[in-house]
Amino acid sequence: MKPIEEYRDHFPIFKDTVYINSCSYAALSDEVEAAFLKYLKDRHEMGADWIGWCDRLERVRELFAKLLSARADEIAVTTSASASLSAVSSSLDFSGARKKIVTTDLAFPTEAHAWHALKKHGAQVVHAKEKDGMIDLDDLERLVDETTLLVAVPLVCYRNGALADVPAIRDIARKKGAMILVDAYQGVGAVPIDVNEWDVDFIVGGSLKYLLSTAGVGFLWVRGDLITKSQPTQTGWFAQEDVHAMLIHDNIPARSARRFEQGTPSVPNLYAVEAGLKMILEIGVGNIRKYVASLNERLKQGILKIGGKIMSPMNPDRHGAMITVASTDEYALVAKLAEDGIVASCRDGNLRISAHFYNNDDDIDAVIASLEKNKNLLA
Ligand SMILES: Cc1ncc(COP(=O)(O)O)c(C=O)c1O
Repeated sequence: MKPIEEYRDHFPIFKDTVYINSCSYAALSDEVEAAFLKYLKDRHEMGADWIGWCDRLERVRELFAKLLSARADEIAVTTSASASLSAVSSSLDFSGARKKIVTTDLAFPTEAHAWHALKKHGAQVVHAKEKDGMIDLDDLERLVDETTLLVAVPLVCYRNGALADVPAIRDIARKKGAMILVDAYQGVGAVPIDVNEWDVDFIVGGSLKYLLSTAGVGFLWVRGDLITKSQPTQTGWFAQEDVHAMLIHDNIPARSARRFEQGTPSVPNLYAVEAGLKMILEIGVGNIRKYVASLNERLKQGILKIGGKIMSPMNPDRHGAMITVASTDEYALVAKLAEDGIVASCRDGNLRISAHFYNNDDDIDAVIASLEKNKNLLA
């Protein structure tokens, strides 16, 4: 691997823009652009290339597996995090005594929707509260009991960047025999994930943020011993044990996590995802985490110095790559930053500043200078 700072040159946007918005969508690399163009070239040259497309799907599956220190047969390659969540929710069984799903007030909406939609099957959905910007573990523990089927948490909250203590949450859920799902979308690619260390049941995420590529590809990791016990009803021909069987008088789901997939893979996007994942794996998520942590320390100190209010947890072990700042008008603040050539985003009253390995100290200083200039919009 070359020095991390040198990867910035692969992202043309930095020639004239301070792009610090990976919590929303990654900057576009030369490699991901080339991958999209390769898809078009292949279409011109080959028309349909189903064998090649299926091979690429398997390569992407392998790369996701590597990223999570998982086995490829535990990965479903889906079309969004929402599709992953829906596939999981369609597999849940409410015929027994466990009817409760415990989610949190830090959930991304799509995660909560997946569970609330199950009320028609008898699901009881409750939310653990937020305390000091984090999941209130006491409240979570109070809610999880012998009737709990699933506990679902975000790894990193999309609103304030809070990083969940996954092992502590897993222990609370396991003590009562409940399954655990982690929505890792705001962390994956920026926060190391090792399924063996976490020992949870489901992990969902997608490709367009810290994984550098595009909308149209998500993933789902399913704990190995759960796969054949799960019967997703959100299904399709790519979920069958034999995709080419063209069977219509039965449903024979794959013995692997592919049973959580559905239809034709998102082919153009698979080209891009492969390129994005390769770069992330080349650099290493552990290296990215360390590098971004030092940018974020500079950022936090700078914000405090100009009197800004940081809404993310201050402890670097308790937040992901995103740092949030309270604003009186977050949309106006995003627009003011844009006037200074800075791309950031906002949610829920907060400005979101989300660095990745392609950002540097100059980007951080530019953000702080712009915030100081627009202090009237800081809460
Ligand atoms: C934490 C989290 N989960 C889920 C999603 C939704 O992902 P998708 O649009 O791929 O369903 C997002 C999107 O921003 C997110 O931040």
